[in-house]
Amino acid sequence: MASRMRFSSLTERISGEGSRAWEIHVRAIARRRRGDDIILLSIGDPDFATPPSIVDGCIESLKAGNTHYTAMAGEPALRGAIARFHASISGTTCTPDRVVVFHGAQNALFSAVICLLDRDEEIIVPEPMYVTYEAVIGASGARMVTVPCPAESGFHPDLDAFAAAITPRTRAVLLNTPNNPTGVVLTRNELSVISDLCHQHDLWLICDEVYATLVFEGQHVSPAALAGMAERSVIINSLSKSHAMTGWRLGWTVSPPELAAHLETLALCMHYGCPGFIQDAGAMALSREPVECAAIKAELRARRDLVCGRLSRVRGLRCSRPEAGMFVMVDVRDTGIPAFEFASDLLETEGVAVLPADAFGASARGHLRVGLTSHRASLADACDRIERYTGSI
Ligand SMILES: Cc1ncc(COP(=O)(O)O)c(C=O)c1O
Repeated sequence: MASRMRFSSLTERISGEGSRAWEIHVRAIARRRRGDDIILLSIGDPDFATPPSIVDGCIESLKAGNTHYTAMAGEPALRGAIARFHASISGTTCTPDRVVVFHGAQNALFSAVICLLDRDEEIIVPEPMYVTYEAVIGASGARMVTVPCPAESGFHPDLDAFAAAITPRTRAVLLNTPNNPTGVVLTRNELSVISDLCHQHDLWLICDEVYATLVFEGQHVSPAALAGMAERSVIINSLSKSHAMTGWRLGWTVSPPELAAHLETLALCMHYGCPGFIQDAGAMALSREPVECAAIKAELRARRDLVCGRLSRVRGLRCSRPEAGMFVMVDVRDTGIPAFEFASDLLETEGVAVLPADAFGASARGHLRVGLTSHRASLADACDRIERYTGSI
């Protein structure tokens, strides 16, 4: 009898719908490798180089021999720099014992969820949401309960639905502000209502803030800044987006020290420390902000204006103007073509790769997520191609 390979139930829980979102992206990459003229706007990794001062800092650290094991929660210099950075963007005070360093925000988020949730408990997540959340929560065995952020409300959360979603099994809320894919920045009022619910029902609040420094209008508010919330919040952040360091894999959690101690233990048994030369570069990046960071933000804003300006003139398309981040949501419902088909045909006929936003949640049905990840001339070309395709429907 043939033996059947057996895997843990976790392997099933981490393979969700989210993976379909990348189908268009994977096809686009394959075509580009074959030499086709493809404009890749399907992934959140812009064409900006990591600022040279950060690269130099890393090389110096390597040359100085910083190639050994490091402290599990992160080296003191980096934890201190992160605490100061978090304090400055949230307007709070923060001490290094609240900080644990991870391999990017993704790894930090996974760790926080694993340390907070047990099987069959519930976590409330507004959708549209970043596609990996489902699998991360699946890994913990907890149940994800979604709350809509309807397109008609500018993708802001339905707060009544939020309150109604709470059950005796609810343990936590997971927010992402500014949001990927919508670019929405949650208001102080929205965060206050959600924080009050957390107090009333004794819930943790996990907040993914990887786009916090890329806000074009309005102001990023961290829930950790609201009265009493630092003691029940886990803030997730990284250098990936703010410092064009996606490939360096450097992120962190900011949480109450008691949770930080558990996160440190998880770091020990999961990755055993982040490379010291990367931590040195990260500490430098946060202590002396490279001039390129402001330029990255200004360029993303100019790209947003270009894409929104161009696509809002195309008949059949409607553009939501993001307040932050690196994506524009384009409503294609008036064309009568479902978003997946639209994105798929657009790639085939015009060589532009964007993601059907349905994969981010039901509220994004009929939308495309266009990444502001390529330079302006290339984005203008992509807009021409999108207009030509839309005109041909
Ligand atoms: C909302 C959100 N959270 C987390 C991540 C992962 O970030 P990191 O590269 O720091 O792991 C991304 C990456 O696109 C993201 O958009």
